[in-house]
Amino acid sequence: MEIIIKNNYSEISIEASGIVANQIKSKPNTVLGLATGSTPLGLYKELIRLHINEGLDFSKVISFNLDEYIGLSKDHPQSYNYFMYHNFFKKVNIPANNIHIPNGISVKQLEYCEQYESLIKNSGGIDLQILGIGRDGHIAFNEPSSSLSSRTRIKTLTQKTIKDNSRFFKNISDVPRFAITMGVGTIMEAKKIILLASGSSKAEPIAQSVEGPITSMHSASAIQLHPNTTIVVDRQASKELKEKKYYNWVYKNKNVIYNQSYN
Ligand code: GLP
Repeated sequence: MEIIIKNNYSEISIEASGIVANQIKSKPNTVLGLATGSTPLGLYKELIRLHINEGLDFSKVISFNLDEYIGLSKDHPQSYNYFMYHNFFKKVNIPANNIHIPNGISVKQLEYCEQYESLIKNSGGIDLQILGIGRDGHIAFNEPSSSLSSRTRIKTLTQKTIKDNSRFFKNISDVPRFAITMGVGTIMEAKKIILLASGSSKAEPIAQSVEGPITSMHSASAIQLHPNTTIVVDRQASKELKEKKYYNWVYKNKNVIYNQSYN
């Protein structure tokens, strides 16, 4: 795992956007795995800026979102579908047919989950998966006790997640109890993962996931088994990492190694 510690939210957004932009430039038909939540908003803003000012081209990009609330229609302002169009898709040139977001109101949910998995597979698999992290250490909506080999399915949200996400709803009772989510196993098949975290409320889940045991109680800890993960956190979210100094040292020496090897 590569752990990059930046000073603040703006810096993590810029760092992550550089990774995404390089990926798209080197493979224009990149399959992106996308996340919702407040954390990737700065990354999306930066990618929009690169699209407008520097011509970053999304015309061949294919996207798969991680999750969606069950029971919210696509145009519901709190749905992840609405979030993605409003904050990103409407502002870049990704074709509508290339966008995939789980459908929270599908009738045959089990079949739908299997279809979503097939769509990912048939597109060649996810090249780059963007992740946030919940306060209980979840990725997507893989709440504690999620199998680390789980696939796309319906999950019941924890009280903690419902409370955290209630900030987007009028009343806590409006927050859906269930979500359709890619599984941990689905996410782990992405060729590269970037996990973003900002703020002190993410310090504990980040430390648990990076330096703690691999456990279904923190589904993000599964990334320790992934061969190509970059974790980009700000100073506050890195507060509880024991080996912080070493990670900074590695980052500082990164270019030295590359320059020595290739020049
Ligand atoms: C939700 C999403 C996750 C996201 C998490 C954290 O639970 N399903 O994908 O990582 O929220 O969100 P935030 O970035 O707002 O803290």
